[in-house]
Amino acid sequence: MELNFYKKTCLEFENFLLHSAPKIQTFHPYFETAFWEMMLSGGKRFRPKLLLAVVCAISPILSKNAFLPALAIECLHTYSLIHDDLPSMDNASLRRGHPTLHTLYDESTAILIGDGLNTYTFYLLSKARLDNGVKIKLIEELSKAGGIDGMVIGQAMDCYFENQKLQIDRLKEIHLNKTAKLIATSLKMGAIIGNLSKELTEKIYIFGLELGLYFQIQDDIIDTTQSENQALKTTRQDNNKNSYVNLLGLEEAKNNANGLKKNIVNNLTYFEKSLQQNLKILLEDYL
Ligand code: IPE
Ligand code: IPE
Ligand code: MG
Ligand code: MG
Ligand code: MG
Repeated sequence: MELNFYKKTCLEFENFLLHSAPKIQTFHPYFETAFWEMMLSGGKRFRPKLLLAVVCAISPILSKNAFLPALAIECLHTYSLIHDDLPSMDNASLRRGHPTLHTLYDESTAILIGDGLNTYTFYLLSKARLDNGVKIKLIEELSKAGGIDGMVIGQAMDCYFENQKLQIDRLKEIHLNKTAKLIATSLKMGAIIGNLSKELTEKIYIFGLELGLYFQIQDDIIDTTQSENQALKTTRQDNNKNSYVNLLGLEEAKNNANGLKKNIVNNLTYFEKSLQQNLKILLEDYL
């Protein structure tokens, strides 16, 4: 049977990512290899696949041009994971089934690879085969969602309020910032590439925020319910954190996630058929 265009594009993107390690001119003995190591270690590629779901549906002719922006998002996300695992943050030893970079090498290497992936993200965006106006918009959106208006401030709050119980609304704000905005922006970047109307782009973004919140609540649940082998990352480490499970208990966290899931499935019907179909393909493993 012929593979659906979106599925095929996702497979091609994975192959593209695996062959996109940048050349680094240096006599450092291992930095070049280590730089792409966490990118190569797997990961679900959820964010690039969200972007590609939108482009494949609304502007399939641009699907290949969307590979660099999709790769850029994965670089930024991977940097956030490398820093998230550092001893001064979550202190985790396993990520994507692979020893974390600071345990395999040392902290300064892990910090600098994170820094390098962060700036490389925007280098990749600048190189995309897209109109300059589109690229500036992509840079604006990704730097906002991945920086002080999103992931960075979310992570800062997550770490600062360890050992201090917050109200659930405040935790929701943390989750929206540290995780949901980047997920919503991945969809939005697809909409920008495909030149979707302002109104639909906004709808997709709002849909993405709810999806992102759902994703992080599920991640909180995974932390308490899955072993390291199942999750392929260090788990049972949210004890001192504000997490949905810690604030509400496992059952209520699950109820919360189920409520969001119902909305997400309902809201899918807003979108035109091919976008619905692509998102259903991607989300079937999550919802
Ligand atoms: C983990 O993200 C961190 C969160 C924001 C929950 P993912 O669950 O997408 O991790 P990978 O990319 O598949 O490794
Ligand atoms: C991380 O949240 C969110 C990021 C911005 C990286 P977590 O700390 O819960 O992610 P995991 O569980 O380590 O993957
Ligand atoms: Mg964390
Ligand atoms: Mg963590
Ligand atoms: Mg977690």
